[in-house]
Amino acid sequence: MRALVLAGGSGTRLRPITHTSAKQLVPVANKPLLFYGLEAIRDAGIIDIGIIVGETEPEIRAAVGDGSALGIEVTYLRQDAPRGLAHAVLIARDFLGDEPFVMYLGDNLIVGGISELVAEFAGGGFDAQILLTKVDQPEQFGVAELDVDGKVVRLEEKPKHPRSDLALVGVYMFGPHVHDAVRAIEPSARGELEITHAIQWLIDQRYDVRSHLVTGYWKDTGRLDDMLDTNRKVLESVEPSIAASASVDAASRLVGRVVVEDGAQIVNSTVRGPAIIGRNTRVVDTYVGPFTSIYYDCVIEGTELEHSIVLERCRISGISRIEDSLIGRDVEVTPSQALPNAHRLLLGDHSKVSVATP
Ligand code: DAU
Repeated sequence: MRALVLAGGSGTRLRPITHTSAKQLVPVANKPLLFYGLEAIRDAGIIDIGIIVGETEPEIRAAVGDGSALGIEVTYLRQDAPRGLAHAVLIARDFLGDEPFVMYLGDNLIVGGISELVAEFAGGGFDAQILLTKVDQPEQFGVAELDVDGKVVRLEEKPKHPRSDLALVGVYMFGPHVHDAVRAIEPSARGELEITHAIQWLIDQRYDVRSHLVTGYWKDTGRLDDMLDTNRKVLESVEPSIAASASVDAASRLVGRVVVEDGAQIVNSTVRGPAIIGRNTRVVDTYVGPFTSIYYDCVIEGTELEHSIVLERCRISGISRIEDSLIGRDVEVTPSQALPNAHRLLLGDHSKVSVATP
């Protein structure tokens, strides 16, 4: 089997982070989100992986390379614009050949991997296998309607009036007939070739489309809250460790699951896990609360920070409390020195700031 991983698209819901970088590379527990998917595919025994890339191709290539560090062989497939998930299958035709394949959306995370699902599909002789899970807001997803026997009868993409609360998870398995399907469908109202419509086409042509209910943790990390929740979930199961080259002084306390990476320094601070402090990051006179990931080369001083993701090379100092935040690369957050005492902001387009009022 082969795999097709989708890492193109525009990521509008995570702006401004995605103005300058790929949403699939936002670190979750200090590892790019995309790597979790690539590792799950590898662990299912699939080595040949095509990655669909768009304008963030250079960044994805820089992070994943030829895949050898992850034990996979990567072929990059350039999509000229985000024309839809089924369009990605269309342009991957030569790479996929007539082999069955797994299609994995690069912004999805399934805890527990996909090995069993891949094995089930490989041995099943079906034309497609989709994963479904119950969600609170089905209108934000592809939605499946099942008959009394549990067979999929209808799929709709982001319907205004969903017929069920069963959302399509972003991991699909296909046999070669999907190539006919993606050629047969027309762009949707939002102008995309929808994989949901391609699967509906397979159902209409009486191909064997199986569904599987996922009961474990799954997230589409498209929004800030989902990204923070994914980070929380992954941190909950990290093994605590302190790298040999890291230092934690006697005045500091690490409580619970805390990972301190190479060269990090914790000085006069409390870190209450689950939390991860990245390579060469300095944490001084600070409280880091649960579900926080701080990436590499940051300096956090005199600050309280909780339930947040901080990207590389940030400088945060003297801020009494930051919560529920995603802070991009090279960001500085410091107290205002000059009078009048005011918030002074230099924010990128589409930034979101929620200021605590006294
Ligand atoms: O996450 C599950 C949902 O994913 C399903 O329930 C929906 O049926 C399915 O359409 C999809 O919906 P999204 O609106 O969340 O898809 P999104 O545009 O976020 O794209 C998913 C991934 O695929 C993301 O990593 C970007 C990438 N992508 C997207 C498009 C449209 C591409 O590589 N090329 C594209 O053309």
